[in-house]
Amino acid sequence: MASFCTQRSFSNSSLFSLVMALMLFTLSTGCASRSWADEASPAVKILVTYHSLAGNTERMAEAVVEGAKSVPNTVVVLKRVGLVTADDLFSSDAVIVGSPVYWSNMSGEVKTFFDNWQFKFGVFPEFKMKNKVGAAFATGGQVSSGKEVTMLTILAAMLGNQMIVVSGGGAFGASATTEGDSPGIDKKELADARALGQRVADVAKLISRAPSK
Ligand SMILES: Cc1cc2nc3c(=O)[nH]c(=O)nc-3n(C[C@H](O)[C@H](O)[C@H](O)COP(=O)(O)O)c2cc1C
Repeated sequence: MASFCTQRSFSNSSLFSLVMALMLFTLSTGCASRSWADEASPAVKILVTYHSLAGNTERMAEAVVEGAKSVPNTVVVLKRVGLVTADDLFSSDAVIVGSPVYWSNMSGEVKTFFDNWQFKFGVFPEFKMKNKVGAAFATGGQVSSGKEVTMLTILAAMLGNQMIVVSGGGAFGASATTEGDSPGIDKKELADARALGQRVADVAKLISRAPSK
């Protein structure tokens, strides 16, 4: 629409001014009604799921939910990985998975969750998660001790399922350092988690409205 608006050039006559005014009115009316139609389309559903023993990853999950909910027309479900059902998974347009770092990788509970996509929910060979949006977040005790690897292995499991993975908050997702010299999860880390939720909701909306779907 922008290039259509800018690619035309006219002489300075009042007739052309009138034509321009009419065109702008028509275009703006068209844009407004399309935007109205966008808002009326079905909501996108986002599943935010996590494992957390001491509550840090849960706190980040709640901030991810806040960010996703800030996008209009978005339904968000928050669940621990062990409670996710087949319907939660398959009815979602996007899945955001959070894990504490355990030995520089996702925790066993989160790995079991992914394994259950096949053992319990039978995602393969149909690739039932194909084209859903996926993203990751993590908390780790130390500054440089596996948060990015943890997020990347979550994203790798999603890629193996032919999902469309996105980042947000940080290069690979949102993360927080929770122990040692860190005073726990800080405002910036929570803002990153909200940014991740918002980005996933934005992208899920774009994809769910693509003409081929
Ligand atoms: C078994 C185990 C292994 C861990 N390994 C790491 C590690 O490799 N790197 C790290 O930064 N933190 C490690 N941690 C610390 C946790 O990742 C960190 O405390 C996290 O924030 C806990 O999340 P939660 O509060 O959601 O349970 C480990 C903790 C446990 C219990």
